[in-house]
Parts: sequence; C-alpha cells; structure tokens
Amino acid sequence: GKDGYRHYMEKELHEHPLVIGQTLQRMIDPATRKVVLPDMPCDIGSIRRCVITACGSAFYAGMVGRYWLEEIARLPVDIDVASELRYRDPPLEAGSLGLLISQSGETADTLAALRSLRNVGLPVLSILNAEHSTMARESDAVLGTVAGPEISVASTKAFTAQLTVLACLTIGVARARGVLGDAQEEELVSALLDLPSRAAEIFSFGEDIRAMASVVAEARDVLYLGRGSAYPVAMEGALKLKEISYIHAEAYAAGEMKHGPISLIDKTVPIVATIPSGALFEKTLSNLQEAKARGGRLLAFTDERSVHRLNAIAERTIALPHVHPFVTPIIQTIAVQILAYETALLKGTDVDQPRNLAKSVTVE
Ligand code: M6R
Repeated sequence: GKDGYRHYMEKELHEHPLVIGQTLQRMIDPATRKVVLPDMPCDIGSIRRCVITACGSAFYAGMVGRYWLEEIARLPVDIDVASELRYRDPPLEAGSLGLLISQSGETADTLAALRSLRNVGLPVLSILNAEHSTMARESDAVLGTVAGPEISVASTKAFTAQLTVLACLTIGVARARGVLGDAQEEELVSALLDLPSRAAEIFSFGEDIRAMASVVAEARDVLYLGRGSAYPVAMEGALKLKEISYIHAEAYAAGEMKHGPISLIDKTVPIVATIPSGALFEKTLSNLQEAKARGGRLLAFTDERSVHRLNAIAERTIALPHVHPFVTPIIQTIAVQILAYETALLKGTDVDQPRNLAKSVTVE
C-alpha cells in the first residue's frame, strides 16, 4: 500500500535515503570501507571502452555514469539510447564492455540492444532493479539496485539507486585501472556513505519546493539548465515534469543556451537551474546571468555554500545540503523529482498513472 502517502510516487520519493543506504550496503564493505564489485563479466581493469545504453530515466543515469567513469576512472565511454544503438550498428571494439541500465529489466529496446551487444561478442554488465527479469537472465553479470518494487510510472528511487551503483562501479573500475589512490577512494566512499542522511534533509525543503512549484505550474514551457553531471539531472527533472504534470519542459546543457534556446527566454518561461558548488559553478552562473539579463525568471537548486551567489539573480533559490561534488547529482535529482511531484499536485493530474504511459515499455 501507500503507507499513508497520497501517491506511490510520494512514498517512493521518501524512500530515497533508505534505498541509497541499502544499495551502498551491498557494494561497500563496512570494515574496509572499500567498494566490493561482485563477479565481473571480464577483467574490469583492462577494458578499453564502455558502451552504455538504456531508455528514459535510466539513460540519464547512464549519462551521469559517463561523467564519472571518464573523469574518475579515465575510461572512454560511449552512450546512446537503446532505440538508437540497436539499429546503428556502430563498430564495437574488442575490449569494450556493454553496460545496460534498467529498472524493470524488460524494456524492449534495452533488451534488443543487450542482445545485439552480446551477438558481436561484447560482455554485458547490467544494472537492474528486477532481479528475475529477462535482462537479468541474459546478461553476463548483474549489479542489483536495492530499490524494492517501484509502482509509480515515474521512476524516482530506482533512478537514484542506479546512480549509487554507478558511483560504486566507477570507484571499483578506477581502482582496477590503477588510477585511484587509497586516499581518494576513502574520500569518495565517505561522500557516498554520507548520502542517506544528507538525502533525508531534502524533505525539510518541502515548503520552498512547493513555492517553486507554484511558479512552474503556471507555465506552459519550462527550461532546465545544468552543466557537467548536473546536465543529465536537468534532463531527468524535465522528463519528470513532462511525464506527470504535462507541462512542456526541455533540458539544455547551460553552455548551449546561446546557440538557440536563449531566444525563448521571457518572463513566461521559467528556468530551473541545477547549479551545485563545484568546478562548473562559475560557468553555469554566467549562463544564468545572461538569461536573467533577458528577462528570465530563475528558479535555482544550489547548496548552502553557494546560495549567496544566486540570491541576487534568482527569484527562488533552494540551498540543498552541501556535499562532495562527486555525489551532487544524487542530491540534486531528488530535489528536481520533488519539484515535478509538487507541480503535478497543483495541476491535479493522475500522478501515479499519467496518461499514455506504461511502467514498463515491453514493445518497441
Ligand atoms: O524499466 P526501465 O528502467 O528500462 O525503463 C526505462 C524508461 O521507460 C523509464 O525510465 C521511463 O523513462 C520512466 N517513466 C521515467 O520516469
């Protein structure tokens, strides 16, 4: 049941801290504080490239994974949505690892992509929530997300569990490749272990997020902007808003704005910015200043450390807990998902069963 929550989505949003914690428990040895990867389908230290594929939110999780694997594990990554990869017939190098991400393990396009990767001889590792699914049976190895059943059509906790697994996988791969020292591993693992309690703090921002939602709910179109790993978070926020509130939303890499979308900006198109402290903060801020100068209304998700920089330009700011830059996409994701939920409540839509959508897309 819904345990007293109004919707499964609300219940599942509140399960974020628990699910992140459970997933970490499965992947980090509490005694050594080291990531322990189960049997991998190949020698993980000698792979030359990783080919990630998935659909929808799982694809956005994969995009965050790409930033991590490239930056921290120094592993080249290709990523594409499964419906494109399966027909593209790209040249796949030996020494590549196929990495699939799916909550249900039954998505038709992802399953077809899995089969085509295996057909050309690539080992396939899948990050799955459904342990007894078709993809689980057909993969060479599985990393489980410990999210429990997800009922709401809009994915929430399964997505952050996917990010949690990808973060641990990144650490394991980086160590196996010899590019991660003990001190750096300890720093990243601490950041992960800190997450469940930091994630729980986000629920104290309910009123601020509702105030933001009241701006979003009035709009016909909304622009989401972010850079680096906050860019796929913007994409996830825009998808969730579209799915459950039926408001048109698009996400752009903040640096792309001046190549087109900036012409949309006026006071009727709110801009939701995901802008955590970190290396790309100043760059994103300058994009937001440009938007502001053109009459844009900014709604910013930042953190305690940087909020003072945004107060002057943003109509609404939310100062999320400050965490290690590695894990900011996980914290930011929860916040943008709550914004979509609160907006859908104001619109009065059928949150758990949005029109035209199925929980698991088992046909092409
Ligand atoms: O079960 P899967 O993770 O393979 O599903 C992929 C997408 O269909 C799914 O993430 C979809 O985009 C959600 N409705 C997003 O909220």
